[in-house]
Amino acid sequence: MRVWVPGDAAARALGADAVAEAVRAEAARRGEALTLVRNGSRGMVWLEPLVEVERDGVRMGFGPMTPEAVPGLFEGEGADHPLALGPVEALPWMAAQTRLTFARVGVIDPLSLAEYEAQGGLAGLHAALAAPDRIVTEITDSGLRGRGGAGFPTGIKWATVARASAPQKYIVCNADEGDSGTFADRMLIEGDPFVLIEGMAIAAVAVGATRGFIYLRSEYPDAIRVMEAAVRLARDAGVLGPDVLGSGLAFDIEVRVGAGAYVCGEETSLLNSLEGKRGIVRAKPPIPALEGFMGRPTVVNNVLSLATVPWIMAHGAAAYAAHGIGLSRGTMPLQIAGNVRHGGLYEVAFGLTLSEIVEGIGGGTASGRPVKAVQVGGPLGAYFPPALFDTPFGYEEVAGQEGLVGHAGIVVFDDTADMLAQARFAMEFCAIESCGKCTPCRIGSVRGVETIDRIAAGDTGMIPVLTDLCHTMKWGSLCALGGFAPYPVMSALTHWPEDFTARAAQEAAE
Ligand code: NAI
Ligand code: SF4
Repeated sequence: MRVWVPGDAAARALGADAVAEAVRAEAARRGEALTLVRNGSRGMVWLEPLVEVERDGVRMGFGPMTPEAVPGLFEGEGADHPLALGPVEALPWMAAQTRLTFARVGVIDPLSLAEYEAQGGLAGLHAALAAPDRIVTEITDSGLRGRGGAGFPTGIKWATVARASAPQKYIVCNADEGDSGTFADRMLIEGDPFVLIEGMAIAAVAVGATRGFIYLRSEYPDAIRVMEAAVRLARDAGVLGPDVLGSGLAFDIEVRVGAGAYVCGEETSLLNSLEGKRGIVRAKPPIPALEGFMGRPTVVNNVLSLATVPWIMAHGAAAYAAHGIGLSRGTMPLQIAGNVRHGGLYEVAFGLTLSEIVEGIGGGTASGRPVKAVQVGGPLGAYFPPALFDTPFGYEEVAGQEGLVGHAGIVVFDDTADMLAQARFAMEFCAIESCGKCTPCRIGSVRGVETIDRIAAGDTGMIPVLTDLCHTMKWGSLCALGGFAPYPVMSALTHWPEDFTARAAQEAAE
Protein backbone atom coordinates (compact mmCIF):
# COMPACT_ATOMS: atom_id res chain seq x y z
CA MET A 1 0.00 0.00 0.00
CA ARG A 2 1.37 3.42 -0.98
CA VAL A 3 0.34 6.35 1.22
CA TRP A 4 1.29 10.02 1.22
CA VAL A 5 1.04 12.13 4.40
CA PRO A 6 2.35 15.68 3.97
CA GLY A 7 5.48 16.61 5.89
CA ASP A 8 4.75 20.29 5.15
CA ALA A 9 4.84 22.56 8.20
CA ALA A 10 1.17 23.61 7.85
CA ALA A 11 0.05 19.99 7.65
CA ARG A 12 2.27 19.09 10.58
CA ALA A 13 0.79 21.95 12.60
CA LEU A 14 -2.62 20.41 11.88
CA GLY A 15 -1.60 16.93 13.09
CA ALA A 16 0.09 15.23 10.10
CA ASP A 17 2.79 13.58 12.23
CA ALA A 18 0.27 11.80 14.42
CA VAL A 19 -1.60 10.68 11.30
CA ALA A 20 1.63 9.36 9.73
CA GLU A 21 2.37 7.46 12.91
CA ALA A 22 -1.14 6.01 12.95
CA VAL A 23 -0.72 4.88 9.32
CA ARG A 24 2.54 3.12 10.20
CA ALA A 25 1.04 1.47 13.29
CA GLU A 26 -2.08 0.28 11.46
CA ALA A 27 -0.06 -1.20 8.58
CA ALA A 28 2.18 -3.00 11.10
CA ARG A 29 -0.85 -4.27 13.02
CA ARG A 30 -2.33 -5.73 9.83
CA GLY A 31 1.05 -6.97 8.57
CA GLU A 32 0.51 -4.97 5.37
CA ALA A 33 3.49 -3.76 3.32
CA LEU A 34 3.55 0.04 3.39
CA THR A 35 5.35 2.74 1.43
CA LEU A 36 4.79 5.97 3.32
CA VAL A 37 5.89 9.21 1.63
CA ARG A 38 6.01 12.52 3.47
CA ASN A 39 5.18 14.75 0.51
CA GLY A 40 4.69 18.51 0.31
CA SER A 41 1.26 20.06 0.69
CA ARG A 42 -1.13 20.27 -2.27
CA GLY A 43 -2.05 23.71 -0.96
CA MET A 44 -5.58 22.94 0.28
CA VAL A 45 -4.82 23.90 3.85
CA TRP A 46 -8.41 23.46 5.04
CA LEU A 47 -8.16 19.77 4.13
CA GLU A 48 -4.85 19.16 5.94
CA PRO A 49 -3.71 16.69 6.96
CA LEU A 50 -4.67 15.52 3.46
CA VAL A 51 -3.72 11.85 3.15
CA GLU A 52 -3.46 10.21 -0.24
CA VAL A 53 -3.75 6.49 -0.90
CA GLU A 54 -2.92 4.88 -4.23
CA ARG A 55 -5.75 2.80 -5.67
CA ASP A 56 -5.30 1.33 -9.18
CA GLY A 57 -2.63 3.94 -9.94
CA VAL A 58 -4.86 6.88 -8.87
CA ARG A 59 -4.13 8.96 -5.78
CA MET A 60 -7.30 9.14 -3.72
CA GLY A 61 -7.56 11.91 -1.11
CA PHE A 62 -8.85 11.74 2.46
CA GLY A 63 -9.04 14.72 4.73
CA PRO A 64 -8.82 16.45 7.04
CA MET A 65 -7.48 13.16 8.39
CA THR A 66 -7.33 12.20 12.06
CA PRO A 67 -5.42 9.28 13.66
CA GLU A 68 -8.78 7.76 14.67
CA ALA A 69 -9.96 7.67 11.04
CA VAL A 70 -6.78 5.97 9.77
CA PRO A 71 -7.89 2.28 10.16
CA GLY A 72 -10.73 2.95 7.71
CA LEU A 73 -8.15 3.70 5.00
CA PHE A 74 -7.12 0.06 5.07
CA GLU A 75 -10.63 -1.29 4.63
CA GLY A 76 -12.19 -1.99 1.22
CA GLU A 77 -11.48 0.60 -1.45
CA GLY A 78 -11.85 3.47 1.00
CA ALA A 79 -14.45 5.16 -1.24
CA ASP A 80 -17.05 4.97 1.51
CA HIS A 81 -14.63 6.39 4.11
CA PRO A 82 -16.34 9.40 5.75
CA LEU A 83 -13.35 11.61 4.84
CA ALA A 84 -13.02 10.38 1.24
CA LEU A 85 -12.52 13.20 -1.27
CA GLY A 86 -11.98 11.25 -4.51
CA PRO A 87 -9.04 11.54 -6.91
CA VAL A 88 -6.92 14.46 -5.70
CA GLU A 89 -5.99 15.73 -9.15
CA ALA A 90 -9.69 15.96 -10.03
CA LEU A 91 -10.69 18.09 -7.04
CA PRO A 92 -11.98 21.45 -8.34
CA TRP A 93 -9.24 23.36 -6.44
CA MET A 94 -6.55 21.31 -8.19
CA ALA A 95 -8.12 20.85 -11.62
CA ALA A 96 -8.63 24.58 -12.28
CA GLN A 97 -5.04 25.57 -11.54
CA THR A 98 -2.12 26.05 -13.91
CA ARG A 99 0.68 24.56 -11.84
CA LEU A 100 3.98 25.36 -13.49
CA THR A 101 6.20 26.46 -10.57
CA PHE A 102 4.36 24.15 -8.15
CA ALA A 103 3.97 21.28 -10.63
CA ARG A 104 5.68 18.73 -8.38
CA VAL A 105 4.81 20.13 -4.94
CA GLY A 106 2.66 17.59 -3.11
CA VAL A 107 3.27 15.07 -5.86
CA ILE A 108 6.79 13.80 -5.22
CA ASP A 109 8.90 12.82 -2.28
CA PRO A 110 10.69 16.18 -1.80
CA LEU A 111 14.05 14.53 -1.16
CA SER A 112 13.97 11.95 -3.94
CA LEU A 113 16.12 13.16 -6.81
CA ALA A 114 14.95 10.12 -8.81
CA GLU A 115 11.29 11.17 -8.45
CA TYR A 116 12.26 14.75 -9.25
CA GLU A 117 13.89 13.69 -12.52
CA ALA A 118 11.05 11.29 -13.34
CA GLN A 119 8.66 14.27 -13.14
CA GLY A 120 10.66 16.48 -15.51
CA GLY A 121 13.28 17.74 -13.05
CA LEU A 122 16.72 18.78 -14.38
CA ALA A 123 15.39 19.12 -17.96
CA GLY A 124 15.75 22.90 -17.64
CA LEU A 125 19.34 22.70 -16.43
CA HIS A 126 20.27 20.29 -19.22
CA ALA A 127 18.75 22.71 -21.75
CA ALA A 128 20.61 25.61 -20.14
CA LEU A 129 23.95 23.79 -20.23
CA ALA A 130 23.38 22.89 -23.88
CA ALA A 131 22.98 26.58 -24.84
CA PRO A 132 24.31 28.85 -22.04
CA ASP A 133 24.24 31.93 -24.27
CA ARG A 134 20.49 31.55 -24.77
CA ILE A 135 19.51 31.56 -21.09
CA VAL A 136 19.24 35.31 -20.48
CA THR A 137 17.32 35.84 -23.72
CA GLU A 138 14.97 32.99 -22.90
CA ILE A 139 14.23 34.33 -19.40
CA THR A 140 13.79 37.87 -20.74
CA ASP A 141 11.43 36.68 -23.48
CA SER A 142 9.36 34.69 -20.99
CA GLY A 143 8.38 37.97 -19.32
CA LEU A 144 9.22 36.55 -15.87
CA ARG A 145 9.26 39.34 -13.26
CA GLY A 146 10.59 39.26 -9.71
CA ARG A 147 8.12 37.26 -7.64
CA GLY A 148 9.40 38.65 -4.33
CA GLY A 149 7.21 41.67 -4.88
CA ALA A 150 8.90 44.38 -6.92
CA GLY A 151 8.21 42.69 -10.27
CA PHE A 152 11.51 43.72 -11.85
CA PRO A 153 12.18 41.75 -15.09
CA THR A 154 14.36 38.78 -14.11
CA GLY A 155 16.09 38.56 -17.49
CA ILE A 156 17.22 42.20 -17.32
CA LYS A 157 18.62 41.66 -13.83
CA TRP A 158 20.55 38.61 -15.02
CA ALA A 159 21.81 40.48 -18.10
CA THR A 160 23.25 43.18 -15.81
CA VAL A 161 25.14 40.58 -13.77
CA ALA A 162 26.20 38.63 -16.87
CA ARG A 163 27.67 41.77 -18.44
CA ALA A 164 29.56 42.81 -15.29
CA SER A 165 33.19 41.85 -15.24
CA ALA A 166 34.47 40.52 -11.89
CA PRO A 167 36.63 37.68 -10.54
CA GLN A 168 33.68 36.31 -8.54
CA LYS A 169 29.90 36.49 -8.92
CA TYR A 170 27.16 35.16 -6.69
CA ILE A 171 23.57 33.89 -6.80
CA VAL A 172 21.60 34.75 -3.67
CA CYS A 173 18.15 33.33 -3.11
CA ASN A 174 15.95 35.47 -0.93
CA ALA A 175 13.95 32.98 1.15
CA ASP A 176 13.33 35.42 3.99
CA GLU A 177 9.59 35.29 3.38
CA GLY A 178 8.38 37.81 5.92
CA ASP A 179 5.07 39.05 4.55
CA SER A 180 2.17 38.12 6.78
CA GLY A 181 -0.24 35.82 4.96
CA THR A 182 2.41 34.46 2.58
CA PHE A 183 3.83 30.96 2.59
CA ALA A 184 4.64 30.08 -1.03
CA ASP A 185 8.42 30.11 -0.56
CA ARG A 186 8.14 27.83 2.43
CA MET A 187 5.76 25.43 0.70
CA LEU A 188 7.94 25.25 -2.36
CA ILE A 189 11.12 24.57 -0.40
CA GLU A 190 9.43 21.95 1.76
CA GLY A 191 7.71 20.31 -1.22
CA ASP A 192 10.20 20.56 -4.10
CA PRO A 193 13.61 21.86 -2.97
CA PHE A 194 15.48 20.54 -6.02
CA VAL A 195 13.63 22.94 -8.32
CA LEU A 196 15.14 25.86 -6.40
CA ILE A 197 18.60 24.33 -6.65
CA GLU A 198 18.07 23.79 -10.37
CA GLY A 199 16.90 27.39 -10.85
CA MET A 200 19.92 28.74 -8.99
CA ALA A 201 22.26 26.55 -11.05
CA ILE A 202 20.70 27.86 -14.27
CA ALA A 203 21.16 31.44 -13.01
CA ALA A 204 24.79 30.63 -12.19
CA VAL A 205 25.45 29.28 -15.68
CA ALA A 206 23.75 32.34 -17.19
CA VAL A 207 25.81 34.94 -15.36
CA GLY A 208 29.04 33.04 -14.64
CA ALA A 209 28.63 32.61 -10.87
CA THR A 210 30.20 29.75 -8.94
CA ARG A 211 28.73 30.26 -5.48
CA GLY A 212 25.22 30.61 -4.21
CA PHE A 213 23.46 31.26 -0.93
CA ILE A 214 19.93 30.56 0.19
CA TYR A 215 19.00 33.04 2.92
CA LEU A 216 16.26 31.25 4.84
CA ARG A 217 14.33 32.66 7.75
CA SER A 218 14.85 31.03 11.13
CA GLU A 219 11.09 30.78 11.61
CA TYR A 220 11.04 28.01 8.98
CA PRO A 221 12.84 25.11 10.71
CA ASP A 222 11.28 22.45 8.45
CA ALA A 223 12.26 24.32 5.31
CA ILE A 224 15.82 24.71 6.63
CA ARG A 225 16.07 20.98 7.31
CA VAL A 226 14.67 19.99 3.89
CA MET A 227 16.77 22.55 2.00
CA GLU A 228 20.01 21.53 3.70
CA ALA A 229 19.31 17.86 2.99
CA ALA A 230 18.48 18.63 -0.65
CA VAL A 231 21.72 20.58 -1.13
CA ARG A 232 23.70 17.63 0.27
CA LEU A 233 21.88 15.16 -2.02
CA ALA A 234 22.35 17.41 -5.06
CA ARG A 235 26.06 17.66 -4.27
CA ASP A 236 26.36 13.88 -3.91
CA ALA A 237 24.62 13.42 -7.26
CA GLY A 238 26.86 15.92 -9.07
CA VAL A 239 24.07 18.46 -9.66
CA LEU A 240 26.11 20.85 -7.51
CA GLY A 241 29.86 20.92 -7.04
CA PRO A 242 32.97 21.36 -9.16
CA ASP A 243 31.47 19.75 -12.28
CA VAL A 244 27.73 20.47 -12.54
CA LEU A 245 26.14 17.55 -14.44
CA GLY A 246 29.47 16.87 -16.13
CA SER A 247 29.56 20.31 -17.76
CA GLY A 248 32.92 21.32 -16.37
CA LEU A 249 31.21 24.31 -14.69
CA ALA A 250 31.36 24.71 -10.91
CA PHE A 251 28.49 25.84 -8.71
CA ASP A 252 27.71 25.17 -5.08
CA ILE A 253 25.14 26.44 -2.57
CA GLU A 254 25.18 27.22 1.15
CA VAL A 255 22.06 27.57 3.25
CA ARG A 256 22.26 30.53 5.64
CA VAL A 257 19.69 31.18 8.34
CA GLY A 258 18.43 34.67 9.22
CA ALA A 259 17.69 35.85 12.71
CA GLY A 260 14.12 37.05 12.46
CA ALA A 261 14.29 40.62 11.14
CA TYR A 262 11.61 41.48 8.55
CA VAL A 263 13.88 44.06 6.96
CA CYS A 264 16.42 41.35 6.09
CA GLY A 265 14.02 40.41 3.29
CA GLU A 266 15.07 43.70 1.69
CA GLU A 267 17.91 42.68 -0.59
CA THR A 268 20.68 45.02 0.62
CA SER A 269 19.85 44.36 4.25
CA LEU A 270 19.93 40.66 3.46
CA LEU A 271 23.36 41.03 1.87
CA ASN A 272 24.66 42.83 4.95
CA SER A 273 23.29 40.05 7.14
CA LEU A 274 24.86 37.44 4.85
CA GLU A 275 28.20 39.21 5.23
CA GLY A 276 27.86 38.94 9.00
CA LYS A 277 26.95 42.59 9.50
CA ARG A 278 23.91 44.16 11.08
CA GLY A 279 20.87 43.82 8.82
CA ILE A 280 20.60 47.45 7.83
CA VAL A 281 19.56 48.77 4.42
CA ARG A 282 22.22 50.04 2.00
CA ALA A 283 21.52 52.95 -0.31
CA LYS A 284 20.97 52.02 -3.96
CA PRO A 285 22.80 52.64 -6.28
CA PRO A 286 24.98 50.69 -6.41
CA ILE A 287 22.52 47.93 -7.20
CA PRO A 288 23.44 44.40 -6.03
CA ALA A 289 23.58 43.29 -9.67
CA LEU A 290 26.80 45.31 -9.86
CA GLU A 291 27.96 45.48 -6.23
CA GLY A 292 26.23 42.89 -4.13
CA PHE A 293 27.59 40.21 -1.81
CA MET A 294 31.12 41.22 -0.75
CA GLY A 295 30.91 44.03 -3.31
CA ARG A 296 30.71 41.56 -6.22
CA PRO A 297 28.03 41.31 -8.93
CA THR A 298 25.18 39.32 -7.41
CA VAL A 299 21.85 38.00 -8.62
CA VAL A 300 19.39 38.40 -5.75
CA ASN A 301 16.11 36.68 -6.57
CA ASN A 302 13.13 35.42 -4.63
CA VAL A 303 12.51 31.66 -4.26
CA LEU A 304 9.58 31.71 -6.69
CA SER A 305 11.47 33.59 -9.43
CA LEU A 306 14.32 31.07 -9.32
CA ALA A 307 12.00 28.08 -9.00
CA THR A 308 10.10 29.14 -12.14
CA VAL A 309 13.23 29.29 -14.28
CA PRO A 310 13.62 25.50 -14.80
CA TRP A 311 10.09 25.28 -16.25
CA ILE A 312 10.84 28.14 -18.65
CA MET A 313 14.13 26.57 -19.79
CA ALA A 314 12.48 23.18 -20.23
CA HIS A 315 9.36 24.37 -22.07
CA GLY A 316 10.50 27.60 -23.72
CA ALA A 317 9.85 31.28 -23.16
CA ALA A 318 6.83 31.36 -25.45
CA ALA A 319 5.02 28.63 -23.52
CA TYR A 320 5.41 30.61 -20.30
CA ALA A 321 4.57 33.98 -21.84
CA ALA A 322 1.40 32.47 -23.30
CA HIS A 323 -0.15 32.75 -19.84
CA GLY A 324 -1.11 36.00 -18.14
CA ILE A 325 -2.28 39.51 -19.00
CA GLY A 326 -0.53 42.70 -20.15
CA LEU A 327 2.98 42.90 -18.73
CA SER A 328 2.21 40.24 -16.11
CA ARG A 329 3.19 37.07 -17.94
CA GLY A 330 3.00 33.51 -16.69
CA THR A 331 1.49 32.27 -13.46
CA MET A 332 1.49 33.42 -9.87
CA PRO A 333 1.14 31.20 -6.80
CA LEU A 334 -1.60 33.03 -4.90
CA GLN A 335 -1.60 32.62 -1.15
CA ILE A 336 -5.13 32.99 0.19
CA ALA A 337 -5.39 33.46 3.94
CA GLY A 338 -7.16 35.27 6.77
CA ASN A 339 -10.91 34.98 7.35
CA VAL A 340 -11.58 32.73 4.36
CA ARG A 341 -13.31 29.38 3.90
CA HIS A 342 -10.78 27.82 1.57
CA GLY A 343 -7.34 29.15 2.34
CA GLY A 344 -4.17 27.88 0.74
CA LEU A 345 -1.92 28.05 -2.27
CA TYR A 346 -3.41 28.36 -5.74
CA GLU A 347 -1.19 28.79 -8.79
CA VAL A 348 -2.93 30.41 -11.71
CA ALA A 349 -2.19 32.68 -14.67
CA PHE A 350 -2.32 36.41 -13.92
CA GLY A 351 -5.64 37.99 -14.78
CA LEU A 352 -8.27 36.64 -12.39
CA THR A 353 -10.26 39.38 -10.69
CA LEU A 354 -10.08 39.78 -6.92
CA SER A 355 -13.71 38.74 -6.80
CA GLU A 356 -12.94 35.47 -8.60
CA ILE A 357 -10.09 34.86 -6.17
CA VAL A 358 -11.88 35.74 -2.94
CA GLU A 359 -15.38 34.49 -3.65
CA GLY A 360 -14.75 31.88 -6.32
CA ILE A 361 -11.57 30.20 -5.12
CA GLY A 362 -11.60 31.22 -1.47
CA GLY A 363 -15.34 30.61 -1.06
CA GLY A 364 -15.91 33.84 0.89
CA THR A 365 -15.26 34.31 4.58
CA ALA A 366 -14.85 31.50 7.08
CA SER A 367 -17.19 33.35 9.42
CA GLY A 368 -19.92 33.45 6.77
CA ARG A 369 -20.17 37.21 7.15
CA PRO A 370 -19.78 39.61 4.20
CA VAL A 371 -16.24 40.42 3.03
CA LYS A 372 -15.23 43.90 4.08
CA ALA A 373 -11.67 44.11 2.81
CA VAL A 374 -8.87 42.17 1.19
CA GLN A 375 -5.27 43.07 1.79
CA VAL A 376 -3.17 42.31 -1.27
CA GLY A 377 0.63 42.07 -1.09
CA GLY A 378 1.49 41.56 2.55
CA PRO A 379 1.46 43.88 5.55
CA LEU A 380 2.58 46.79 3.36
CA GLY A 381 -0.06 46.17 0.72
CA ALA A 382 -3.26 48.12 0.18
CA TYR A 383 -6.71 47.09 1.43
CA PHE A 384 -9.21 46.62 -1.37
CA PRO A 385 -12.95 47.14 -0.78
CA PRO A 386 -15.54 44.96 -2.60
CA ALA A 387 -16.19 47.92 -4.93
CA LEU A 388 -12.74 47.30 -6.44
CA PHE A 389 -13.01 43.52 -6.63
CA ASP A 390 -13.24 43.66 -10.42
CA THR A 391 -9.53 44.60 -10.46
CA PRO A 392 -7.62 41.95 -12.42
CA PHE A 393 -4.65 40.42 -10.63
CA GLY A 394 -1.67 41.88 -12.50
CA TYR A 395 1.22 44.18 -11.55
CA GLU A 396 0.02 47.27 -13.45
CA GLU A 397 -3.67 46.59 -12.84
CA VAL A 398 -3.27 46.40 -9.04
CA ALA A 399 -0.85 49.36 -9.05
CA GLY A 400 -3.50 51.32 -10.97
CA GLN A 401 -5.69 51.07 -7.87
CA GLU A 402 -2.91 52.30 -5.56
CA GLY A 403 -2.01 48.76 -4.51
CA LEU A 404 0.74 46.22 -5.06
CA VAL A 405 0.80 42.58 -6.07
CA GLY A 406 3.79 42.04 -3.80
CA HIS A 407 4.46 38.40 -3.06
CA ALA A 408 0.79 37.60 -3.88
CA GLY A 409 -0.47 37.28 -0.33
CA ILE A 410 -4.25 37.81 -0.19
CA VAL A 411 -5.70 38.23 3.29
CA VAL A 412 -9.48 38.37 3.70
CA PHE A 413 -11.38 40.33 6.40
CA ASP A 414 -15.09 40.21 7.17
CA ASP A 415 -17.33 43.15 8.08
CA THR A 416 -16.27 43.12 11.73
CA ALA A 417 -12.77 44.37 10.80
CA ASP A 418 -11.82 47.77 12.20
CA MET A 419 -9.85 49.47 9.45
CA LEU A 420 -8.45 52.12 11.76
CA ALA A 421 -6.96 49.32 13.85
CA GLN A 422 -5.54 47.79 10.67
CA ALA A 423 -3.97 51.13 9.71
CA ARG A 424 -2.48 51.41 13.18
CA PHE A 425 -1.09 47.90 12.84
CA ALA A 426 0.74 48.90 9.63
CA MET A 427 2.42 51.85 11.35
CA GLU A 428 3.23 49.82 14.44
CA PHE A 429 4.66 47.01 12.31
CA CYS A 430 6.84 49.53 10.49
CA ALA A 431 8.00 51.06 13.79
CA ILE A 432 8.96 47.65 15.18
CA GLU A 433 10.67 46.38 12.03
CA SER A 434 12.32 49.64 10.88
CA CYS A 435 16.10 49.27 10.52
CA GLY A 436 16.42 52.88 11.68
CA LYS A 437 18.58 54.12 8.84
CA CYS A 438 16.31 56.83 7.47
CA THR A 439 14.21 59.42 9.28
CA PRO A 440 10.84 59.19 7.46
CA CYS A 441 10.51 55.54 8.45
CA ARG A 442 12.25 55.53 11.86
CA ILE A 443 10.45 58.60 13.21
CA GLY A 444 7.48 58.66 10.86
CA SER A 445 6.18 55.24 11.82
CA VAL A 446 6.22 56.10 15.55
CA ARG A 447 4.47 59.41 14.88
CA GLY A 448 2.05 57.48 12.65
CA VAL A 449 0.96 55.26 15.55
CA GLU A 450 0.52 58.32 17.79
CA THR A 451 -1.46 60.19 15.13
CA ILE A 452 -3.81 57.26 14.54
CA ASP A 453 -4.30 56.93 18.30
CA ARG A 454 -5.38 60.58 18.41
CA ILE A 455 -7.81 60.01 15.55
CA ALA A 456 -9.15 56.96 17.38
CA ALA A 457 -9.72 59.18 20.40
CA GLY A 458 -11.89 61.48 18.29
CA ASP A 459 -9.40 64.09 17.04
CA THR A 460 -10.30 64.02 13.32
CA GLY A 461 -8.17 67.14 12.82
CA MET A 462 -5.27 64.70 12.77
CA ILE A 463 -6.46 63.03 9.54
CA PRO A 464 -4.73 65.59 7.27
CA VAL A 465 -1.60 65.21 9.42
CA LEU A 466 -1.71 61.45 8.87
CA THR A 467 -2.14 61.95 5.13
CA ASP A 468 0.80 64.35 5.05
CA LEU A 469 2.93 61.94 7.08
CA CYS A 470 2.09 59.09 4.69
CA HIS A 471 3.14 61.26 1.75
CA THR A 472 6.50 61.98 3.42
CA MET A 473 7.09 58.31 4.24
CA LYS A 474 6.09 57.12 0.79
CA TRP A 475 8.39 59.47 -1.10
CA GLY A 476 11.15 60.03 1.46
CA SER A 477 11.95 56.54 2.77
CA LEU A 478 15.03 54.71 1.64
CA CYS A 479 13.42 51.31 1.14
CA ALA A 480 10.03 49.65 0.67
CA LEU A 481 9.40 49.13 4.40
CA GLY A 482 8.92 52.81 5.18
CA GLY A 483 7.93 53.60 1.61
CA PHE A 484 5.05 51.13 1.45
CA ALA A 485 3.64 51.35 5.00
CA PRO A 486 1.43 54.21 3.76
CA TYR A 487 -0.37 51.85 1.34
CA PRO A 488 -2.43 50.02 3.96
CA VAL A 489 -2.92 53.24 5.94
CA MET A 490 -4.08 55.38 3.03
CA SER A 491 -6.25 52.66 1.50
CA ALA A 492 -7.98 52.14 4.85
CA LEU A 493 -8.52 55.88 5.20
CA THR A 494 -9.72 56.31 1.61
CA HIS A 495 -12.15 53.38 1.45
CA TRP A 496 -13.42 53.26 5.04
CA PRO A 497 -13.32 56.91 6.25
CA GLU A 498 -16.18 56.10 8.64
CA ASP A 499 -13.86 53.84 10.66
CA PHE A 500 -11.65 56.88 11.27
CA THR A 501 -14.43 59.28 12.21
CA ALA A 502 -16.61 56.92 14.23
CA ARG A 503 -15.45 58.15 17.63
CA ALA A 504 -15.88 61.83 16.74
CA ALA A 505 -19.34 61.11 15.31
CA GLN A 506 -20.27 59.21 18.45
CA GLU A 507 -19.13 62.07 20.68
CA ALA A 508 -21.04 64.60 18.59
CA ALA A 509 -24.18 62.49 19.00
CA GLU A 510 -23.83 62.25 22.78
P1 NAI B 1 13.21 47.67 -6.17
O1 NAI B 1 12.21 48.16 -7.15
O2 NAI B 1 14.17 48.64 -5.57
O3 NAI B 1 14.13 46.58 -6.90
C1 NAI B 1 13.66 45.46 -7.53
C2 NAI B 1 14.82 44.59 -7.95
O4 NAI B 1 15.36 45.02 -9.19
C3 NAI B 1 16.00 44.62 -6.99
O5 NAI B 1 16.57 43.34 -6.94
C4 NAI B 1 16.97 45.61 -7.64
O6 NAI B 1 18.30 45.43 -7.26
C5 NAI B 1 16.75 45.26 -9.08
N1 NAI B 1 17.13 46.30 -10.05
C6 NAI B 1 16.65 47.55 -10.11
N2 NAI B 1 17.19 48.18 -11.17
C7 NAI B 1 18.01 47.30 -11.79
C8 NAI B 1 18.83 47.35 -12.97
N3 NAI B 1 18.92 48.44 -13.71
N4 NAI B 1 19.51 46.25 -13.29
C9 NAI B 1 19.43 45.14 -12.54
N5 NAI B 1 18.68 45.03 -11.43
C10 NAI B 1 17.97 46.10 -11.07
O7 NAI B 1 12.40 46.90 -5.08
P2 NAI B 1 12.86 46.19 -3.71
O8 NAI B 1 13.05 47.20 -2.67
O9 NAI B 1 13.98 45.24 -3.98
O10 NAI B 1 11.59 45.31 -3.36
C11 NAI B 1 10.40 45.87 -2.92
C12 NAI B 1 9.33 44.83 -2.94
O11 NAI B 1 9.58 43.83 -1.98
C13 NAI B 1 7.96 45.36 -2.62
O12 NAI B 1 7.22 45.45 -3.81
C14 NAI B 1 7.35 44.35 -1.68
O13 NAI B 1 6.16 43.84 -2.23
C15 NAI B 1 8.36 43.27 -1.62
N6 NAI B 1 8.44 42.65 -0.30
C16 NAI B 1 8.40 41.30 -0.25
C17 NAI B 1 8.44 40.61 0.94
C18 NAI B 1 8.36 39.11 0.96
O14 NAI B 1 8.15 38.52 2.03
N7 NAI B 1 8.54 38.46 -0.17
C19 NAI B 1 8.57 41.33 2.21
C20 NAI B 1 8.62 42.75 2.06
C21 NAI B 1 8.55 43.38 0.84
FE1 SF4 C 1 15.45 51.31 7.27
FE2 SF4 C 1 12.86 52.00 7.26
FE3 SF4 C 1 14.60 53.53 6.02
FE4 SF4 C 1 14.02 51.08 5.05
S1 SF4 C 1 12.63 52.80 5.15
S2 SF4 C 1 16.04 52.06 5.24
S3 SF4 C 1 13.69 49.97 6.97
S4 SF4 C 1 14.57 53.11 8.24
